[in-house]
Amino acid sequence: MSGRDPVAELTGLLRKARRPVALTGAGVSAESGVPTFRGPDGLWRRHRPEDLATPEAFARDPALVWEWYNWRRERIAPARPNPAHRWLAAYERANPGFLLITQNVDGLHRLAGSRRLVEVHGNLWVLRCTRCGREGEDRRVPLPVPPRCPECGGLLRPGVVWFGEPLPAEALTRSTEAVQEADLLLVIGTSAVVQPVASFPLLARGAVVVEINPAATPLTPSLDLSVRSAAGALFRRIPLPGPPPAGSGSPSPSHPGGTP
Ligand code: OAD
Repeated sequence: MSGRDPVAELTGLLRKARRPVALTGAGVSAESGVPTFRGPDGLWRRHRPEDLATPEAFARDPALVWEWYNWRRERIAPARPNPAHRWLAAYERANPGFLLITQNVDGLHRLAGSRRLVEVHGNLWVLRCTRCGREGEDRRVPLPVPPRCPECGGLLRPGVVWFGEPLPAEALTRSTEAVQEADLLLVIGTSAVVQPVASFPLLARGAVVVEINPAATPLTPSLDLSVRSAAGALFRRIPLPGPPPAGSGSPSPSHPGGTP
């Protein structure tokens, strides 16, 4: 890549892209006040994942797991989308080929208005019954511990993907296909260590891959462009592109639908 200013470079790439994809992680919500997982104040510093975010932990002590999720829901409930969430939602409206893939369970992309969105790790505000499978949003904070299904009285669990669980098949297919077909891939605010999502960028075939992260990650050496910046501060500086010029082979909405 040229020695141009990375912001100018990124602005040009975003304007040209026909099938852009963004993959976000906890860092995109950091400027909204949501703690990341692995930073100095990261959630995993104080809690061992195997004690809390696994099916085994939930089977052993659902109340303990629910206390932790209640604590996280309390932290996240007042959080509001920051300029990065809002920019990505506006980009979706301007570019019908754009797909947003997030590992975040905080719901802030949806709150900002993103709809062509794949929440690969689920959503903290969705509860799923372990007995009848009923799933629904519940924004009460705090929830009674442990919460019970209004239909069958079964134990409810958070609608998220835990360590040791597979990603929902539809979310996985949609995400990997979009990355393979992308002409631009933005990797924003993820430490790129949790599989399988950490490997998504390696599936890109023709895409220019750009990382937006104040710190280096295992992906950094293989990227086309690395913008060392906080996401919200960066997107505040990037003008929103208009829709693709007429007659330029504007794409069909290749990533329709909503969250899996
Ligand atoms: P991490 O906490 O591992 O990484 C957060 C990344 O965001 C780090 O690389 C930071 O440098 C970067 N970062 C911090 N502030 C930022 C900012 N303002 N703008 C941009 N980047 C910033 O979070 P994830 O990579 O999302 O999984 O973690 C992946 C998965 O691990 C999570 O989805 C969760 C967790 O276990 C499940 O719950 C299944």
